[in-house]
Amino acid sequence: MGSLTKMEELVVGEGWSKEAILYVNGVRRVLPDGLAHLTLLQYLRDIGLTGTKLGCGEGGCGACTVMASCYDQHMKKTMHFAINACLAPLYSVEGMHIITVEGIGNRQRGLHPIQESLAQAHGSQCGFCTPGFIMSMYALLRSNKQPPTEEQIEENLAGNLCRCTGYRPIIDAFRVFAKTDDSLYTNSTSASSSTNQTICPSTGKPCLCGSSSEACGRKQHRPISYSETDGSSYNEKELIFPPELLLRKIMPLSLHGFGGLKWYRPLRLQHVLYLKSCYPEAKLVVGNTEVGIETKFKNAQYQVLICVTHVVELNALNVGEDGIEIGASVRLTQLQQVLQKVVAERDSHEISSCKAILEQLKWFAGKQIRNVASVGGNVCTASPISDLNPLWMASNAKFRLIDCEGNIRTVFAKDFFLGYRKVDIRHDEILLSILLPWTRPFEFVKEFKQAHRREDDIALVNAGMRAYIRAENEDWIIADVSIVYGGVAALSLSSSRTEKYLMGKKWDKKLLEDVLNVLKEDINIPENAPGGMAEFRKSLTLSFFFKFFMWVTHEMNVEGHFKEGLHATQLSAIQPYSRPSSFGSQSYELARHGTAVGLPMIHLSSKLQVTGEAEYTDDTPTSQNTLHAALILSRRAHARILSIDDSRAKSSPGFSGLFLAKDVPGSNKLGPVVHDEELFASEVVTCVGQVIGIVVADTHENAKAAASNVEIKYEDLPAILSIREAVDSGSFHPNTARSLVKGDVEWCFKSSCDKIIEGEVQVGGQEHFYLEPQSSLVWTVDAGNEVHMISSTQAPQKNQEYAANVLDLPLSKVVCKTKRIGGGFGGKETRASFFAAAASVASYHLRTAVKITLDRDVDMMTTGQRHSFLGKYKVGFTNEGKVMGLDLEIYNNGGNSLDLSVSVLERAMFTSENVYDIPHVKIRGQVCFTNFPSNTAFRGFGGPQGMLIAENWIQYIASELQKSPEEIRELNFHNEGMVLHYGQVLENCTIRQVWDELKISCDFQNAREAVSSFNCQNRWRKRGVAMVPTKFGISFTAKHMNQAGALVQVYIDGTVLVTHGGVEMGQGLHTKVAQIAASSFNIPLSSVFISETSTDKVPNASPTAASASSDMYGAAVLDACEQIKARMEPIACRQKHSSFAQLARACHMERIDLSAHGFYITPNIGFDWKLGKGAPFSYYTYGAAFAEVEIDALTGDFYTRTADIVMDLGYSLNPAIDVGQIEGAFIQGLGWVALEELKWGDAHHKWIRPGNLFTCGPGTYKIPSVNDIPLKFKVSLLKGAPNPKAIHSSKAVGEPPFFLASAVLFAIKDAIIAARAEEGLNEWFPLDNPATPERIRMACVDSFTKHFASPNYRPKLSV
Ligand SMILES: Cc1cc2nc3c(=O)[nH]c(=O)nc-3n(C[C@H](O)[C@H](O)[C@H](O)COP(=O)(O)OP(=O)(O)OC[C@H]3O[C@@H](n4cnc5c(N)ncnc54)[C@H](O)[C@@H]3O)c2cc1C
Ligand code: FES
Ligand code: FES
Repeated sequence: MGSLTKMEELVVGEGWSKEAILYVNGVRRVLPDGLAHLTLLQYLRDIGLTGTKLGCGEGGCGACTVMASCYDQHMKKTMHFAINACLAPLYSVEGMHIITVEGIGNRQRGLHPIQESLAQAHGSQCGFCTPGFIMSMYALLRSNKQPPTEEQIEENLAGNLCRCTGYRPIIDAFRVFAKTDDSLYTNSTSASSSTNQTICPSTGKPCLCGSSSEACGRKQHRPISYSETDGSSYNEKELIFPPELLLRKIMPLSLHGFGGLKWYRPLRLQHVLYLKSCYPEAKLVVGNTEVGIETKFKNAQYQVLICVTHVVELNALNVGEDGIEIGASVRLTQLQQVLQKVVAERDSHEISSCKAILEQLKWFAGKQIRNVASVGGNVCTASPISDLNPLWMASNAKFRLIDCEGNIRTVFAKDFFLGYRKVDIRHDEILLSILLPWTRPFEFVKEFKQAHRREDDIALVNAGMRAYIRAENEDWIIADVSIVYGGVAALSLSSSRTEKYLMGKKWDKKLLEDVLNVLKEDINIPENAPGGMAEFRKSLTLSFFFKFFMWVTHEMNVEGHFKEGLHATQLSAIQPYSRPSSFGSQSYELARHGTAVGLPMIHLSSKLQVTGEAEYTDDTPTSQNTLHAALILSRRAHARILSIDDSRAKSSPGFSGLFLAKDVPGSNKLGPVVHDEELFASEVVTCVGQVIGIVVADTHENAKAAASNVEIKYEDLPAILSIREAVDSGSFHPNTARSLVKGDVEWCFKSSCDKIIEGEVQVGGQEHFYLEPQSSLVWTVDAGNEVHMISSTQAPQKNQEYAANVLDLPLSKVVCKTKRIGGGFGGKETRASFFAAAASVASYHLRTAVKITLDRDVDMMTTGQRHSFLGKYKVGFTNEGKVMGLDLEIYNNGGNSLDLSVSVLERAMFTSENVYDIPHVKIRGQVCFTNFPSNTAFRGFGGPQGMLIAENWIQYIASELQKSPEEIRELNFHNEGMVLHYGQVLENCTIRQVWDELKISCDFQNAREAVSSFNCQNRWRKRGVAMVPTKFGISFTAKHMNQAGALVQVYIDGTVLVTHGGVEMGQGLHTKVAQIAASSFNIPLSSVFISETSTDKVPNASPTAASASSDMYGAAVLDACEQIKARMEPIACRQKHSSFAQLARACHMERIDLSAHGFYITPNIGFDWKLGKGAPFSYYTYGAAFAEVEIDALTGDFYTRTADIVMDLGYSLNPAIDVGQIEGAFIQGLGWVALEELKWGDAHHKWIRPGNLFTCGPGTYKIPSVNDIPLKFKVSLLKGAPNPKAIHSSKAVGEPPFFLASAVLFAIKDAIIAARAEEGLNEWFPLDNPATPERIRMACVDSFTKHFASPNYRPKLSV
């Protein structure tokens, strides 16, 4: 540590200030000293602005997006930009104006047009992501004078995740703000016009929807005029930039934070250097997008932070004779702007590096990160997967470093990186700037990146390549070259042997053949290298070089320097990915019933959600003495607990209490079906992440710190870490063996099959990734005589039961309330109750309120996921393709407790024939015990897994018979009246109707022909198509759960309060139920209100799950309404009333009870597992989907061109909500089949510690983002098909569409088949889900992959 006295002198001498101010939503706030440890998000939520949400805390979800505005003294301009409040240190926004969702509109003042539009377009379901989307869009509009294009809007939303909507309605909502007719502005426009193609008025490009300009749906969108909203104009409402901040002199800051943290914000380089000399260990920070992650997730602790955002010398951007000088603090968006300008203005030969960097920046994080992240921060972090470092190295950039004495030295980028996050920079130095030289004529620089997800994802492998070629006689000779890779070693790596080999060589085809042999030896990724996927990553290094070679060759050819061009089919290797804006269409009929049923009403809470006024559990105002909880978690997969030392935890700051198994007042054993799980592990832990105890403290951070101070000693025991290991060692949950038999499979295989195939299907799991993490607030009443809680749960009754059980209280003394939850998808069906019970133990002992909100990583690693499955099948069929017999063994990965795994297995077994009639069936199943957190319910509940196994063997049969899978499917469809393999007779089967309608809608024959013709013309890009059907049985398979209660109360003003047992989690349940009540009483929807779900209003409710909630609660509410109506009837008959309010008051005067309890049980269902026969389902929901995809065979990249869905939903209760469910389920399913991979420490992933989850945050686990949705997304509901089995002839919708996304998986497979055919590989091959770039690339076997893997190579999957 340097001289403090000197520093103090400097501080005093230079007028360093401790006066920090901030404007939030137009209000001036003085920031006291001592808050340097806080993020902006923590601060905002602490001052009550809870509209801004915490979804992940790592910049990966966008839920915390706010707009920052500051005045640029040099440009004399106010800048507006979106940022992630969760990563922004509070003092980093000092002197700025922060606008949150509360600042732009609310229900009292009126909604902002963006809010209005999103609500009206059904763009908010659970609403947790909504404020973040609103603020990203708001910042985009405010930062541009011109309206954005549709493509800009989509690009701008890449840093915002939504798990509910499928994004289409969000894009539609925001599209109204895009350019319209005057925007025929792009170059492509004129070309298109000349070919008579319709031009979209919003994009200025050829129209995707295919309609005429007049008919185009987009044209009907008009920007909402501000006066239309509530009469006032935009300017009147918009928060202006605070005049004080225009005039205020920016001061250097010297502030503090918790634990002695010092925060400096110098304004001059000289002061930075001085501070550095005083504190050599000080950390410089700009965007904090690295430092923030290090401190939060990697336990890094820094005592001195120097924020260099405002240092003039570090913000230089000088365009000079030799190139561009880029200051180290320059933000990535600023760099983008300057490069765009340079590319537009300078000679084309000079800007090859600039173009490459610009292209790479397109795929660098999301907009919120690019707005704050600096060039220097990226360089100095020296991440091995930095996107820019390989390009600086390849383009011969130089880094200028300055030491504390002011001495400057220059280092070539290629010499700067020394090892894993190690650079050639001394403690007394900082990075000053980067010098990027112009390129010379015939010098070509190109960028490459392949990530798991295209948008907002870090690279798996990236590269920067440069070749300078010179004409010598008739030849072109390589005079200088750089081939640099990221993601292949501990640092960005030059392929030095390859570079050496290339120098002086002639640029021709022969060169390519030879160099690949050198290159493949140059990059060595060991089998168990961190990140895994060695074969894929090595293949990518060759693919990238191949692409580079082809690109340079093509460029030279275009310029007329090469005689021989590329063959047309080879051009597909270098075709850049570009994405036009997406387009959706929805088609349904309205089957109106009464005032509200059947109408596309907007979600009842949507206006609260778009303004940030909707309260979630973590937003509930709490008393001052509320404590915060953190969990003590097992770090071992299977181990005996030898000792627990909590002494350090107990002396941690803010500590209030610590509770272990011995402290549980009631039973420590829990479980939804079997009590096989301990609340707090007592002697043995059976998975990493198992809860051992709970710590409470005054803040969440202090509770976490205390929990991490608990020292536990373990004795390791053998762990089972996969289904295969469990099957091999007979590790099953007790009493879970199940079997279903129809006919005689053995006889069938012997006598009536022409062919028999056998195979295995591995089905990957999936994380729920609800945007709102698990959260509960528990408090006691009357000194622990009662316990109350608010919880984000799909099953308040389960929370009540679990808490009562662990506290030894009667159910009547425990109340759980749930207003809304920010997504559940099954993940909050049983697991939420567990955390609520843990918090209730602490609350009960301390007699105070305790809040538990899980951090995203803890949530992901402890709460279980969709079950992975293993299916082993034997299928017999005829030469025509008629399936005769199926023999299936099926296993799911239950994890360390049973939870709902046996019901999940049963549903998988019921759905194992999907929609196909099979005369002889034998299915056996069992739940595996493994040392992973208990897997749990997830949308589809085993159904998708069962159907995916079925569709795999359908595809295999097709391959065997050289027919299309669609032919095999059609040939085997169920028919009305058939008896299924579990004895249920099929009634009202509409699968053929649905299928035929889809076939016409997607024009399947033509689509297939077009794809074939495309594939003939493109060697390296392939397209594929698929049509897949689905059937989903509606009802809980446990009969007793098919009951529902409701309480309806009519008030004397004619308004109605409905309470029922179901939870609103975004699916629109309350809206549909309110529509039913409104129609029943013949009153407007606005007269019906549903406030919350509460165990003291409706007792013993089943969890909100199994898609059946609107059927059941709708019917229970209707029952209650009918009872009240019957009581009102005599009064109504006696006298005519002008309104319902008048009638209600008249009834009241007559002492009529205006409150009723309604009840419903699903009739005629039941299944006997002993017999293996019965009718588990009330009815089935049918659907079918078509998908067309395009893959890049060289990298495994893919995108969905079209998705077309037809579903039979009977007479929809609310078609807009149902369409939203279909789109959301499809995109979530797309994640499951093609993007989302869980990586666990198991035998296949030795680089991960055993039993640990590697993919435990949005940084490593990629759910679909806005850019992953199909370019053309069409949803139609089958018309004229009422369902006799459910309320108002409707059908359940939540889960059934999920499996339809498998059409994307099979379309990908279809494309891979085309790629393999190029290499003469025509045999059937397995393709596991998710079909990530790794799986796609490695299945597209070619001369590059063959260097590293056999043609049968199957990438590793944790199952
Ligand atoms: C959600 C998310 C997505 C991301 N996506 C990508 C991606 O796609 N590609 C990619 O490459 N990276 C990505 N990153 C990483 C990160 O955003 C970048 O590395 C970013 O450029 C870092 O800049 P910063 O200003 O935020 O760094 P900070 O966190 O402020 O600083 C990072 C490091 O640089 C040091 N430093 C900063 N300036 C100087 C200087 N002048 N002299 C010496 N040391 C200095 C700091 O002391 C610190 O050690 C992502 C990060 C997040 C959180
Ligand atoms: S909470 Fe900030 S990005 Fe997720
Ligand atoms: S509405 Fe987007 S996450 Fe729920």
